[in-house]
Amino acid sequence: MNLEKLLHDQLAPALEAVAGEPVDPAVRVSPFADFQSAAPLTLARRLGRPPREIAAEVAARTGFTVSGPGFLNITLPDEMITAALEAAAGDPRLGVAPATRPERIVLDYSSPNLAKEMHVGHLRSTIIGDALARILDWQGHHVHRANHVGDWGTPFGMLIEHLIEEGGARDHSLGDLTAFYRAARVKFDTDEDFRTRARLRVVALQAGDGPTRELWRWLTGLSEQAFLDSYQRLGITLGPGDFAGESCYQDDLAGIVAELGEKGLLTESDGALCAFPSGFTGRDGGPLPLIIRKGDGGFGYAATDLAALRHRVRNLGATQLLYVVGTPQRMHFQMVFAVAREAGWLPPEVSAEHIGFGSILGTDGRMLKTRAGGTIRLAELLDEAVARASAPEIGIAAIKYADLSGDRRADYVFDWDRMLASTGNTGPYLQYAYARIRSLTRRAAREPGRIRVTDPAERALGLVLLGFEPALQAAGAAREPHRLAGYLHDLAAVFNAFWERCPVATAEPGVRASRKALAELSGRTLHTGMSLLGIEAPERI
Ligand code: ARG
Repeated sequence: MNLEKLLHDQLAPALEAVAGEPVDPAVRVSPFADFQSAAPLTLARRLGRPPREIAAEVAARTGFTVSGPGFLNITLPDEMITAALEAAAGDPRLGVAPATRPERIVLDYSSPNLAKEMHVGHLRSTIIGDALARILDWQGHHVHRANHVGDWGTPFGMLIEHLIEEGGARDHSLGDLTAFYRAARVKFDTDEDFRTRARLRVVALQAGDGPTRELWRWLTGLSEQAFLDSYQRLGITLGPGDFAGESCYQDDLAGIVAELGEKGLLTESDGALCAFPSGFTGRDGGPLPLIIRKGDGGFGYAATDLAALRHRVRNLGATQLLYVVGTPQRMHFQMVFAVAREAGWLPPEVSAEHIGFGSILGTDGRMLKTRAGGTIRLAELLDEAVARASAPEIGIAAIKYADLSGDRRADYVFDWDRMLASTGNTGPYLQYAYARIRSLTRRAAREPGRIRVTDPAERALGLVLLGFEPALQAAGAAREPHRLAGYLHDLAAVFNAFWERCPVATAEPGVRASRKALAELSGRTLHTGMSLLGIEAPERI
């Protein structure tokens, strides 16, 4: 149930009658009533009339009251809140109706590079993307998870060549994947002959040489398994069937170039084939190129993204394309979308969005690194989270929630003490709040009871509970999990206030049953919201 929308629908006709044209009622939660609308103030300026006069006219039509210089204060009748809460309590979806027009969403997230190990930089895409997948799914959309892993190109020449030379190709063992990657990299950086052999190996890979391909498959399989292990530890819903890496599109790339060429969208520049989508200019004011085929004949990142995009629209029937990738890649995606529109692969009815996010910083305010200045491996980070927390699921929740609770566009500081704290807007705070509610509702054997809100603390909790739908819809529509996170934090805080103020055991039976029902609904709402963020909610801590 969305009270704001309900009130919006009541106010809109009254405002329109007074103004003679549609007016946005702009209903907001208010500390002075349950809700408030400032629309008469905006309208007064437009009509050149006193705001209180306009507010009075609207009030007369709706039964709301005028306050201050011309606000409309809306206080809901208790019965209305009660009825809405009863409806939510009796509904497994907590009163949230599934989308009436479900979209087919292809959600590109996580997408690490197989030839390297997963590091903390991939953490945000994985965590934010997974929360969005869960939220959009639950809203009733069809979500197709696409893990566009880097599984092709130069780094694989290096790895396969190293594998062959170390004899690992024969006995199919390479020990520690991480050590193996590092050793190959060192050799590549220091040994010129090896570099040449590695380049030839890439050519063999791209030409489809049998033994090379076989090693490539084995190597990518190992890498995928390592990622799946991390996903499992993190509670990420990506599975083996979601891998659709860059290699999947190799056979389409020549066609991409041919089609762009036919449509007159390619220009040769220093031997490379480039598209110059209109509207993109460089610092010097000149057109900005998107490199489709490099001077050496190799295809770049853009070509693969165009092929993937075309596939997602054409074969997967996507109506929305979402890419959860760091902000530095924003321009790349804007250009890929523009070229795809010009090529006709992205029809007007299909939307494409880059969902960017900021960096993870250390407590010194710089990019998060190891003490020695190296990149932090994800697996090590998870080990540390588990070691620092009182239980593994608390450590994991702390990391995930720290990433989800702030606006994704902002950088965030990775601070163990802050994110593991059991107070404040943290994962552990929600987990403790949930476990507490569950211990209360477990103890109080459920008596069938209707919800009634009379005490101000009950009323406040009731209103917050009814705010679940708007918070969830806002999080989904804006692709901003932090809106849901912030809501859950409010809910936990308001519940605590309610519980301190409203005794249960000593209350008369009707009130007792109602309070238990409110606690139950609070627990379910918190649990649902946490699971939509991918935060585990243990029954006991
Ligand atoms: N593998 C890339 C990286 O690690 C990210 C890929 C993002 N997705 C995409 N469709 N380009 O930077």
